[in-house]
Amino acid sequence: MNKKIIILNGAARKNGNTAKLVESFEDGAKSVGNQVKTFYLDGMEIHSCKGCLRAGRDSKSPCSQKDDMEQIYAEFEEADVVVFASPVYFWTITGTLKTVADRLYAELECLGYSKFPKKSVLLMTADGGDYSQAVTWYRTYERNLGWKNLGEVLGKGKTKEAYRLGATI
Ligand SMILES: Cc1cc2nc3c(=O)[nH]c(=O)nc-3n(C[C@H](O)[C@H](O)[C@H](O)COP(=O)(O)O)c2cc1C
Repeated sequence: MNKKIIILNGAARKNGNTAKLVESFEDGAKSVGNQVKTFYLDGMEIHSCKGCLRAGRDSKSPCSQKDDMEQIYAEFEEADVVVFASPVYFWTITGTLKTVADRLYAELECLGYSKFPKKSVLLMTADGGDYSQAVTWYRTYERNLGWKNLGEVLGKGKTKEAYRLGATI
């Protein structure tokens, strides 16, 4: 309750299957008093990491590239919970979401990894059912960063599960 949550939605379709899960999660999270900020990444200008390894000291603008990631850095720093949302694209997360996950490197380098004991959530949809590669990516990311996995909702129709998970945050 009263947690700050950011949702990084890597789906391109604003009213698609993933957005429905995201909205249900958001409704659940808000119903118990949490603050939620959702980023629809597809509409944002976010370039891929250039690998320059030159993270700066300003946590609001730690990356050498100045683009819409700055909106996310500002919210990420304060967030208690980070939600990764994506459709399955060729058995993994979308490139859009992966790009943002890569770009968080600059922020983590800037403030120090131990300053980010985040909690995280995975929301995904697919036509088939093979989420294994995406789940492995997610669990590897959060585990190695020392975050806590609060849950995963995998499946197009699972809006009730998404709401319930949101309401437990
Ligand atoms: C480029 C592309 C690749 C996809 N690859 C897969 C896949 O590997 N496995 C699967 O089950 N569905 C795949 N799908 C289907 C989507 O994951 C599924 O329709 C999803 O719910 C779409 O989410 P959205 O409505 O939020 O865009 C793919 C769709 C697209 C456009």
